[in-house]
Amino acid sequence: MRFCCQGPSLAVHTPAKLNLYLEVLGRRPDGYHELETVMVSVGLYDSLLFTEEDSDQTRLECRHAAPRLANTPVISTGSDNLVVRAADLLREYTGCGRGVKIVLWKRIPMQAGLGGGSSDAAAALVGLNRLWQLSLSAIELHMLAAQLGSDVNFFLDSPLAAVCTGRGEHITPVAVSQRLHFVVACPTTGLSTSDVFRQFQAKSNSVRDVSTVAESLTSRRRGSLAAGMHNALEAPARDLNSDVSRTLDALSRSGATTVLMSGSGTACFGLCRSARHARVIAGRLRLKHRGTVYAMDTRA
Ligand code: C5P
Repeated sequence: MRFCCQGPSLAVHTPAKLNLYLEVLGRRPDGYHELETVMVSVGLYDSLLFTEEDSDQTRLECRHAAPRLANTPVISTGSDNLVVRAADLLREYTGCGRGVKIVLWKRIPMQAGLGGGSSDAAAALVGLNRLWQLSLSAIELHMLAAQLGSDVNFFLDSPLAAVCTGRGEHITPVAVSQRLHFVVACPTTGLSTSDVFRQFQAKSNSVRDVSTVAESLTSRRRGSLAAGMHNALEAPARDLNSDVSRTLDALSRSGATTVLMSGSGTACFGLCRSARHARVIAGRLRLKHRGTVYAMDTRA
């Protein structure tokens, strides 16, 4: 997450994420699923501009800088938007009665498994904590983040990489010893996270281990990183949306060797050897893939 003061306003640039590993450990009594996932921050950013207003309201304006996926709803700028919910939650928790205008530039495709909504919510918590001079501690911000969504905690401190457990809200940062390069392909349609979890069926014979991926990020072992990459939500997402399989196939045919879906989809990515390799594959993919294609690397 990056901050920049613009006169009386505060600009926050907040990244997308990719899941290099995601295992579902079981269903919990509260209806959520227990997860073990490795997330990395990547250099595709939403931007939020916060300007204090003489009111006790949040006024959100959204400008779309990424193509909207065909089957996803138009983003709401009302009280169901995670950014507005973050502002409301801060007011409720602190008793602060201040107002804000927030302009949100959405570059991260929605319902793609890239964490855009959660990243925006984290930016709103951190940005408004500064703008309104609330002085909330990291512990308090993490407590509020967990109330907004399972991925919001990851983006609060915006580590380069982390192992996330529980619902996804318990974060253990992982040191990354080298920049990783990816080609990311978003189909023209998205998927709802709750639909994908509902479709998920546990497999009893999983022999995967989160530490393979986490340790290879630190130790530069690309081979074991590629071998350990895994997403248990890929099968249910493929069942629900054939664009996922089509996108994974297109990535493989363009020369990406290790391909995976991110989060609950529908974005898919390939791990590349270098920034150049990612650009070459992205170029090939743009000729035949109907969605959006990005070459990007790990960046907080
Ligand atoms: O936490 P968040 O609001 O992002 O989750 C969206 C939906 O995804 C939840 O309502 C739930 O259906 C599902 N989910 C889950 N287990 C998780 C995270 C999300 O079942 N660990």
